[in-house]
Amino acid sequence: MEKIHIFDTTLRDAEQVPGCQLNTVEKIEVARQLEKLGVDVIEAGFPVSSPGDYKSVIEISKAVTRPVICALTRAIKRDIEVAAEALKNAKRARIHTGIGTSPYHIREKLNTTPEEVVRRAVEAVKYARQFVDDVEFYAEDAGRTGDDFLARVVEAVIRAGATVVNIPDTTGYCLPDAYGAKIAYLRARVPNIDKAILSTHCHDDLGMATANTIAGVQNGARQVEVTVNGLGERAGNTPLEEVVMAIACHDSLPFELGINTREILHASRLVSTLMRVPVQPNKAIVGRNAFAHSSGIHQDGVLKSRETYEIIDPTAVGVDESSIILTARSGRAALKHHLERIGYLPGDQELNILYEKFLDLADKKKEITPRDLEVLVGNELSRRDRHFHLEALQVTCGATTIPTATLRVRKGDELLAATAHGNGPIDAAFNAIKGIIPQQIILEEYLVQAITRGSDDLGKVHVQLSHEGRAYHGFAANVDTISASVEAFLDAVSKINDQPQP
Ligand code: KIV
Ligand code: ZN
Repeated sequence: MEKIHIFDTTLRDAEQVPGCQLNTVEKIEVARQLEKLGVDVIEAGFPVSSPGDYKSVIEISKAVTRPVICALTRAIKRDIEVAAEALKNAKRARIHTGIGTSPYHIREKLNTTPEEVVRRAVEAVKYARQFVDDVEFYAEDAGRTGDDFLARVVEAVIRAGATVVNIPDTTGYCLPDAYGAKIAYLRARVPNIDKAILSTHCHDDLGMATANTIAGVQNGARQVEVTVNGLGERAGNTPLEEVVMAIACHDSLPFELGINTREILHASRLVSTLMRVPVQPNKAIVGRNAFAHSSGIHQDGVLKSRETYEIIDPTAVGVDESSIILTARSGRAALKHHLERIGYLPGDQELNILYEKFLDLADKKKEITPRDLEVLVGNELSRRDRHFHLEALQVTCGATTIPTATLRVRKGDELLAATAHGNGPIDAAFNAIKGIIPQQIILEEYLVQAITRGSDDLGKVHVQLSHEGRAYHGFAANVDTISASVEAFLDAVSKINDQPQP
């Protein structure tokens, strides 16, 4: 199988974006993760651009030994000298030099002629070859460069000693068939093309970066320039994770990749954290929802066979497993799956009861966690043994209102009701309960806790009562903490009624 070389430019094309700057220590951490991931080339910086970039290329060259370390330059002697100096500790060093080749660049930016561009390109490559054996040339804005002129430049730089020739779609302008055709044209028309590797370098201005990169590979490119999470100039570069997994998934792309895909998620999270750019939830491969199934139909399908709705085994990219997200749209199958994961095996009837409670909770809370389920099951189990069941509760309170609670409680066939005031809504509700039970009780302890986070969370309530010198504990959970408090109180009161009465 032919190899596709993965050239990562997160530390150069992405790092130059305002807000994404990293210090040297952070860059080394990213470089080490890229090495773990198995990339072939790390573009570590643009040394002449700043003392920070210069220092980082030196330090990354020392810290990372397996991949080729590459440094960017313009087609300017001073740039090349500084890059060579920064790379002197690299075990395998590459200088990446180049110049604009499109009419926009030649006329507007460089104010020169095509002949002069070819001359400078050749001179830069020859000069870089005096320092390192591995020289990559980029034809900036190749995406908008005429094929004939591009072929002329490519042939000339290969003759001058370029080992890799990069065909950047700098402005993200190309459509996949046109970008693929450009690579095919170079492969067919440049006589010495077999002496160098052709590389893709695509930007995502039209959302085509991955498609263009794959089209490049299908037409003969054997190196792809990518960044983690697709970060980069403007709309970004080609995301590493998308190209790697597209190649890994498709038999029609029979290429060898040296990538340890299980490190993808870790790399994504590290880069997102250090560069302070959150990954959009629906981002392919590494987004929070990339393997999350929320509709009941999809959840049922995935539980029967993962392949029904997944083209990638999530563990292959470092995700623990596909997440069957529990929401109000989940079906019984998803609930059962999650209950079994927390060790609870409900029968059919029990599942129906829990499902109703689950839907009730899911209507109030967007997403149900395993911790919520534990509480839901615990709540349901303890409710069954209770003598008192809350049927209705109405509480009024506020800055200018006397806190008042009215409740109706079922005890067997009996319906008991009471209204009471208190110094707050909980006190009023507890006083109302005291009004309907015969025993004298004292509230010893009352504790409310949120289970996870967020104001829509389940509130957990523990109460401790005492009656004739004995302690009775009650527990309940509800998104409404006043209801949870009343249920916990009734749970404890029910236990008094369990005691043999004198
Ligand atoms: O997009 C581009 O053209 C580049 C080159 C400097 C390689 O990043
Ligand atoms: Zn770029």
